[in-house]
Amino acid sequence: MANRAVLNTDLRRGTINRNIYGHFSEHLGRCIYEGIWVGEDSPIPNTNGIRNDVVQALKQIKIPVLRWPGGCFADEYHWKDGIGPKENRKRMINTHWGGVVENNHFGTHEFMMLCDMLECEPYINGNVGSGTVQEMSEWVEYLTFGGVSPMSELRQANGRKEPWKVAYFGVGNENWGCGGNMRPEYYADLYRRYQTYVRNYDDNKIHRIACGPNVDDYNWMEVLMREASRFMDSITLHYYTVPGATWEDKGPATGFETSEWFTTLEKALRMDELITKHSVIMDKYDPEKRVGLIVDEWGTWYNVEPGTNPGFLYQQNTIRDALVAGLTFNIFHKHNERVQMANIAQTVNVLQSVILTEGEKMVLTPTYHVFDMFKVHQDAERIDLELDGGNYRYDGREIPAVTASASINADGVIHISLCNTNHAEKSVVPVDIRGSKGQSFEVAGTVLSGDRIDAHNTFDAPDTVVPQPFHSFTLEGDQLTVELPPMSVTVLALTPK
Ligand code: AHR
Repeated sequence: MANRAVLNTDLRRGTINRNIYGHFSEHLGRCIYEGIWVGEDSPIPNTNGIRNDVVQALKQIKIPVLRWPGGCFADEYHWKDGIGPKENRKRMINTHWGGVVENNHFGTHEFMMLCDMLECEPYINGNVGSGTVQEMSEWVEYLTFGGVSPMSELRQANGRKEPWKVAYFGVGNENWGCGGNMRPEYYADLYRRYQTYVRNYDDNKIHRIACGPNVDDYNWMEVLMREASRFMDSITLHYYTVPGATWEDKGPATGFETSEWFTTLEKALRMDELITKHSVIMDKYDPEKRVGLIVDEWGTWYNVEPGTNPGFLYQQNTIRDALVAGLTFNIFHKHNERVQMANIAQTVNVLQSVILTEGEKMVLTPTYHVFDMFKVHQDAERIDLELDGGNYRYDGREIPAVTASASINADGVIHISLCNTNHAEKSVVPVDIRGSKGQSFEVAGTVLSGDRIDAHNTFDAPDTVVPQPFHSFTLEGDQLTVELPPMSVTVLALTPK
């Protein structure tokens, strides 16, 4: 069958939550320290210790929500170590990540200041694995209570009179693994207990997030939904795209073969299957879809860059990562009824970063540009888009050659995002625009592509992979035809004339 797409402009499928474009920053490698926090005395331009260039870049992509302090670090983090005068804060070893000194200079006040600067919502992940109920409860009190109480007074003594607003709070992270190696039955009970003391103070309303499964652990999802769904607002899912067959050799971030290109995209597409199957379980216990699914760790995970600390998870980012991001967003859009938030791992210098830094230098990765191009979908209404874009075959296997999604914003502008997974061949997609009642459109587009499968940006050549104006389309009446270059991510804007 020839490639064909039908855009049903009158079939609306609900809002694409802007939080799908969320981020995750852990005390891991050079994400927080160097990547975000350089300290007030740094020669790198900063505001109260936070890098100006990174803040500006993240504001540009309209970062809606930021998860912190972990990750595995969250279940070892004791928040009181990170408040008060910096010179008095505990110095310790980050035992989980790289064995380096953690001086606790970036703590609660600094994180909340960062969120203020970014104008994004904070998503704080509490410690269940090695923390107490009291410790978690007091953190929420410290953050959000404005009345008379020990934690409110402690916050004020540390310079912050007014309480903050905290919308999202996670009760543990990967408690099936680094967060305590628990069984789902045990964690479900702990979740019920800990979340009881995550209180809503004043008019702050906390969205309580339970630790969900790893990848395809459907039993974990079943037990958590059965035992604890009525106590949660959302549950998490973690899924990383690892091209290699083993954790010992995950494959390189650059200099890879075509087979690794294909395998990476094939594995990234598995997100659709995972969300679909987890949603079936969630539907059983929550047919109203009250509980959200939050994919708060996703992205590519490769071998670290040669010569770097293996515990820092520093990797380059290529046009392949841009495809992974585009494919993943199209999948999240498809599941917009259940997926309420997602957080790429991780914002700066760790795993599939949107930003890399080296001293005062900063470079935006191809993944950053996908976030920038796709931000038009934030809080827009999804439009039904049926697509058969043919298959991309490699070595006897096949994946869709094209994936796409569409939305309409408050101004009536329709955006269509399309990914061509084929590393070598263009894809032509004719799109029937239906339901627009003779409305004519002005079309403009942006495309991100590369001249080789590992095309990437470096500090010396930061503009190798950057969005370009896209002109390879025609519109005649309600027939839009798009010619997508090989290995590309494209976003079209259809503005009513
Ligand atoms: O993102 C890196 C790590 O991956 C996180 O700390 C952990 O939650 C996951 O295993």
